[in-house]
Amino acid sequence: MSITFNLKANFRLSGAVPKECESELGALLEDANRNLLRKGAPQGQKGAEIVDWRLDEDRLYLEIHSGRYVRAHDALLRLRKPLSGTLGKKYHIGIRGIEVLDFEISSETEHELTNPRIPFVRSITYEDGTVTLDLEVDGSDLENRVPDRIMNLLEEKVEQSTYGGKGEHWELMWESPHREYRFREDPSKTLEGLGWIRRGSSRGQWIYGPEMTRVLRAFVSIVERDLLNKLGYNEMIFPKLVTWDVWKRSGHAKGVYPEIYFVCPPKTRDPDFWEEVIDHYKVTNEIPLELLKEKIDYPIGGMCYAQCPPFWVFVQGETIADDCMPVKVFDRSGTSHRYESGGLHGMERVDEFHRIEVLWMGTPEQMVEHSKELQECYKHIFNDVLELEWRQAWVTPWFMAQEGMTGLDERKTVGTIDYEALLPYNESWLEFQNLSVNGDKYPRGFNVKLQSGEDLWSGCSGIGLERWASAFFAQHGPNPDDWPNGVLELVGELPRDVFKFL
Ligand code: SER
Ligand code: ZN
Repeated sequence: MSITFNLKANFRLSGAVPKECESELGALLEDANRNLLRKGAPQGQKGAEIVDWRLDEDRLYLEIHSGRYVRAHDALLRLRKPLSGTLGKKYHIGIRGIEVLDFEISSETEHELTNPRIPFVRSITYEDGTVTLDLEVDGSDLENRVPDRIMNLLEEKVEQSTYGGKGEHWELMWESPHREYRFREDPSKTLEGLGWIRRGSSRGQWIYGPEMTRVLRAFVSIVERDLLNKLGYNEMIFPKLVTWDVWKRSGHAKGVYPEIYFVCPPKTRDPDFWEEVIDHYKVTNEIPLELLKEKIDYPIGGMCYAQCPPFWVFVQGETIADDCMPVKVFDRSGTSHRYESGGLHGMERVDEFHRIEVLWMGTPEQMVEHSKELQECYKHIFNDVLELEWRQAWVTPWFMAQEGMTGLDERKTVGTIDYEALLPYNESWLEFQNLSVNGDKYPRGFNVKLQSGEDLWSGCSGIGLERWASAFFAQHGPNPDDWPNGVLELVGELPRDVFKFL
């Protein structure tokens, strides 16, 4: 994709430059065009070029054009040193600062960008298959590399507008044989009808009654017996309130906003500060939300979304001994929360869900090897214990999807396997769990190293109990007589009549 930068800027000087200095400056800038502003550009590619310049009292005006190598703003910053050398030594003039007069970044594009607003961009125009961003930046923004990040963002957006419709990658890896189904109902409706589950007061939230809970716990026992204990996993307890710092490191800060439940602390815990809210409630029986909004602080992050990211703070900045590898830990200490798309969904799509998160780390070979061991465990569980019709597919890695990206990771071994089960009642496939080798993404993001200096990789797998239940009940129905023995054994006698409603 071709990209061009056109920058018009002034160096602000400590005094006016005498006329006789002009030719000396001219020579310096010409030489820069030939050497300094080409340095670093790959063979055969052009660097930056000063296309116009002039002196105006205590201003040195420059117009610089470039492609993606030696970008115009880098060129400007590169010129500062030789210029202050020349101006300082002989004429005792210093460079006081940079004034950006006009800065445009253009790229080819076939479609208009989806979102017309980009930070630091005054306006966006389209002409002859080219999109041009008019930047609103100052000298310190140039030094902070804001234009580079705007360029990356522009490329991302152009790519999205071109390939946006393609969606995520999906490639079938394996599928189980087809089964025959007698039960063809929506399992959530059936279970709700039986009173095994009832809606909670919050959006996309269920309360699981004693019978249902017994089944969910049986699922957990299966995972314990046939996977966690078998492969030597240790339990940990991960935080469930996740801060921005974690999401900056995990990459979620790049995309997760529409789906998180934000967490705001009170501005103060001084009861006097809250008295008005309390009194208002006492008098009206209503929560004064407008008033409350003023009294809570900015969100510090959100509720658990992907489960494994906050674990990494435990090892952040550490070097771990080789003989700990591979590390195998899991968490099942609490709920995950996602603000799902509107409308009433059953258990298969919930805002609050229960998941066992399995996490492992080690050398790249160990990670790939361990992923295979896990795949074998899952295959046994789904074929022989839950007796499901299921398939597995190679998909866009979850961490890319959660960052709002669609492609595949370049490295073949790194990526996500989605496990999908057939829902006979609507003949769709439901993703009911995933398994990923995440490469060095997390160790890099949280600065974790291995004693030997070898690459440290990690992987994770999320086992969603609601998703397992959706698959299980959709295929086997609610009647224990129809359930596979391996599940019945662990469920035992179901609790009866714990609640009778009149
Ligand atoms: N962390 C992974 C995910 O969010 C697995 O649970 O998909
Ligand atoms: Zn994970």
